[in-house]
Amino acid sequence: MTEYVIVGSDSFSRALAKELGTQIIEVNYKKFPDNEIKPTINVDSVKKAIDKKALIVSRTDRSIPDSNKKIWEIGFITDSLIRNGMGSVDILAPYMYYARQDRPALPGEPASLAVVAKTLEDWGYSNIFTVNSHLYGKETTLQDFFSEIKIHDISVSRLFSEYLAGKDLRNPIVLGPGEGPEKMAIELSANLDCDYECLEKTRDLTNQKVSMEPPQADLQGRDLVIYDDISSSGGTIAEIYNLANERNPSRIFLALVHILTHDGIERLQNLWTYEIITTDSLMSDGPKQYTELPLVPLISDYIKAL
Ligand code: R5P
Repeated sequence: MTEYVIVGSDSFSRALAKELGTQIIEVNYKKFPDNEIKPTINVDSVKKAIDKKALIVSRTDRSIPDSNKKIWEIGFITDSLIRNGMGSVDILAPYMYYARQDRPALPGEPASLAVVAKTLEDWGYSNIFTVNSHLYGKETTLQDFFSEIKIHDISVSRLFSEYLAGKDLRNPIVLGPGEGPEKMAIELSANLDCDYECLEKTRDLTNQKVSMEPPQADLQGRDLVIYDDISSSGGTIAEIYNLANERNPSRIFLALVHILTHDGIERLQNLWTYEIITTDSLMSDGPKQYTELPLVPLISDYIKAL
């Protein structure tokens, strides 16, 4: 097992350090009135962990999602760790920033993910751990954007299927968006021992409006699990929900690995689904009207097995 010390100050970082039986390097996330940031590490805890590898935990906040700030934060923390003697630094970003911008879609747009990948390569990591990135199971994977860094794109299908197994599902079917059989839907349906269907989706790139082919399967009286990696505006899931709901299913569960915004959650809540299930890949405060599955047990098992 790789001997990591965890770098971060939130409950997720503490839980991961506890599971891995390791120490933590606390970070004080200072911010100036003009929004410039100065994350500052606890130097005493670095001295105690100097023989280990550092693993920076980076999660953005669902109420004010800010991938740009989080990327700079990773870079600044890395600089402080190296300056203070850490020999090796890796990243755990459960939600992989910019993975949806894997190619320019319209003339004049940048290849943003390639730029982010090049920056992270320059900052010198050996490993990036993430969870169901946007490119998970696709023909072009996240790894294709990196040459020096090993990408660990961990699937959470097991987590969702273990949770859903307790729901006494009746004749379930997994529905997801996709251009063909999608790996996520295949995995979850195999774990639940049921069918799946991927609905072909098109997005108007000028106004972002999503349209979807209606489901072919008979959904009458069945429990549906709508499964997707990311929900941002909630538009994709609302479209699948509305098409499926017209076919008189029984309960509709939304299983969404990363819900990026509070506005998106509100839109999903207005659909009156049976249950919204997500993970704690993003930070979120306050009472929740949805189920949040903790990622730490899955990620710590993965790291322990390395
Ligand atoms: C995109 O291809 C992803 O898998 C999601 O379907 C998408 O990011 C969801 O975005 P929104 O909630 O804005 O429709």
